[in-house]
Amino acid sequence: MTVEQLLGRPRGPRMLGIWRDYGARVFAGTLLLLLSLVGFEAGPKDDFSLVRPLVTMEQLLWVSGKQIGSVDTFRIPLITATPRGTLLAFSEARKMSASDMGAKFIALRRSIDQGNTWSPTEFIIDDGETPDGLNLGAVVNDAETGVVFLFYSLCAHKFGCKVASTMLKQREPRKGRLIVCGHGTLERDGVFCLLSDDHGASWRYGSGVTGIPYGQPKQERDFSPDECQPYELPDGSVVINTRNQNNYHCHCRMILRSYDACDTLRPRDVTFDQELVDPVVAAGALATNSGIVFFSNPAHQEFRVNLTLRWSFSNGTSWQKERLQLWPGPSGYSSLAVLEGSMSGEGQAPQLYVLYEKGRYQCTESISLARVSIYGIF
Ligand SMILES: *[C@@H]1O[C@H](CO)[C@@H](O)[C@H](O)[C@H]1NC(C)=O
Ligand SMILES: *[C@@H]1O[C@H](CO)[C@@H](O)[C@H](O)[C@H]1NC(C)=O
Repeated sequence: MTVEQLLGRPRGPRMLGIWRDYGARVFAGTLLLLLSLVGFEAGPKDDFSLVRPLVTMEQLLWVSGKQIGSVDTFRIPLITATPRGTLLAFSEARKMSASDMGAKFIALRRSIDQGNTWSPTEFIIDDGETPDGLNLGAVVNDAETGVVFLFYSLCAHKFGCKVASTMLKQREPRKGRLIVCGHGTLERDGVFCLLSDDHGASWRYGSGVTGIPYGQPKQERDFSPDECQPYELPDGSVVINTRNQNNYHCHCRMILRSYDACDTLRPRDVTFDQELVDPVVAAGALATNSGIVFFSNPAHQEFRVNLTLRWSFSNGTSWQKERLQLWPGPSGYSSLAVLEGSMSGEGQAPQLYVLYEKGRYQCTESISLARVSIYGIF
């Protein structure tokens, strides 16, 4: 499979004018992965009492240490499932060092058999030898058009920021809206979302929640919402599970909620989830069509260790006591995807995919994929 075949029509990264018009340097490039249009049907409602998450497979998709394409370090995993059930896994391939800056590729592997086998690594974007290269990023699937958008930033450390993740709104208000949430640096402080109501032809900002003190360097315990993961609840509201950069209020996750599809994010809709203890990291969060909310992070107050999966049957207002420990040792960023209903394939049980940074001594050693059977069925 070549990049051209995957992309359908080759396209390089490009600036979208609308972002510059809005003064954003955050989302400096985008890549359209054109995939065929396939209808999507939600499966029948499942019974929560049958939920028994079980790891049925785990494999390392990328190993750091100049073994794959002479790449020093793979970091920042992102995974998504297309409407047709193809899994796409992305990461930053940091060419020379583990640093957030420096030159990188974006690495891609894909699976068309529920994660059993994966295509060889393809480097789909190359920023050359730039001193402050690309950073991931976010991936969003438009289930209605079959287009996948991959967002990444360039020169994030001088001008902009890293962004986190995305979703397509399935319910009113604003059904079909594409939402990409990210965080800024001091010039554009806080969490804000980019919105598209025309399947990605144009994008604009919704209003955000800014940090306090606004536009100034933050200290420990200041309010500073950071990398974030949105998901949609059954009532059509959007929850943005957010990195609490300076441990404001707790060593736990910050939760933002929007009732108008991220047109606005209001300070009064900011809460803290004391149950989701967090060492300040990018975490995974996702709601399934059957109404289960999943959350993954290194479940520790201070250190990036103990990658743990939690789940909720109450729209994320409380979490089941039971949890699934995926890796007790060093572990960092994680990203979630689900195959369910017609996406998972004929007669296949719903599966959750957790792509995460994992190591024996450091979490930058590898990026691992765990497949979790939601109902404990192989
Ligand atoms: C979750 O949200 C939906 C839609 O608002 C609601 O019908 C359901 O009762 C909520 N579940 C719980 C356990 O609160
Ligand atoms: C790791 O997570 C498990 C739950 O998965 C928890 O019971 C345990 O206390 C955690 N260990 C550490 C060292 O935080």
